[in-house]
Amino acid sequence: MGQDLIIDDMHVSYGDSHILQGISMVLHEGEVVTLLGPNGAGKTTTLRGLSGLTKATGKVTYGKLDLLNMKPEAILRSGISLVPEGRGTFASLSTEENLQLGGISRKADHALEDDMKRMYRYFPVLEERKKQQAGMLSGGEQQMLAVARALMSRPKLLLLDEPSFGLAPRIIEQLFDILKSIRETEGISMLIVEQNAALVMQFADRAYVLEAGQIVLSGTAKEMQNNEAILKSYLGS
Ligand SMILES: Nc1ncnc2c1ncn2[C@@H]1O[C@H](COP(=O)(O)OP(=O)(O)OP(=O)(O)O)[C@@H](O)[C@H]1O
Ligand SMILES: [Mg+2]
Repeated sequence: MGQDLIIDDMHVSYGDSHILQGISMVLHEGEVVTLLGPNGAGKTTTLRGLSGLTKATGKVTYGKLDLLNMKPEAILRSGISLVPEGRGTFASLSTEENLQLGGISRKADHALEDDMKRMYRYFPVLEERKKQQAGMLSGGEQQMLAVARALMSRPKLLLLDEPSFGLAPRIIEQLFDILKSIRETEGISMLIVEQNAALVMQFADRAYVLEAGQIVLSGTAKEMQNNEAILKSYLGS
């Protein structure tokens, strides 16, 4: 289909360490897919490779585009936006300024204001905090700002790196409810890296499991939820 993401034998090395050892994954347009796996498996490396922030080899296509030969800005403009691990908002800038920067990859247009308003509808707390420095926001508010900022580029595909990290259960639930409504309203595809597998499996269509730089399992969320070994290793039950 039009805007599928097809990862075929992607490798990443840092110096002598061969971190991603030929992973293959598919994300169909409109799908929510989760990438699970233990610390150090290469999940962040995968998202950075897809965003052009880390040099990767192999073949990755997004629709007709050949992603591994594109610069990060071009990848962003093609509709792929990353919400990085640790959020990556600009601490000294206000909530509002962070959102404006999120929209900067687009041509300047009056829709920027409309998009900010739309973000404030999804995340009312950000409107209450629009003049506040991002660094002074709570962890949950910062994560919401990071997601909203990524959405300001009007992505078709959102890459989320551990969105629930360090957040209280109630805030995590709130964040995932908002992601769900964003998915329904905007039809955005999502690739979500998570450690909180039980939670993300309620939301995702399919899952891949990455271990030591290789995909070791994949299936629909339903299949994964019924698999004993996966339940033990990744779903904490
Ligand atoms: N810039 C880098 N230079 C050298 N090694 C790196 C670099 N970035 C990551 N690594 C190594 O690559 C491996 C995979 O790291 P990565 O951050 O992708 O893991 P992860 O699955 O996201 O882990 P976590 O769940 O802890 O976030 C790790 O062993 C890490 O130390
Ligand atoms: Mg990581």
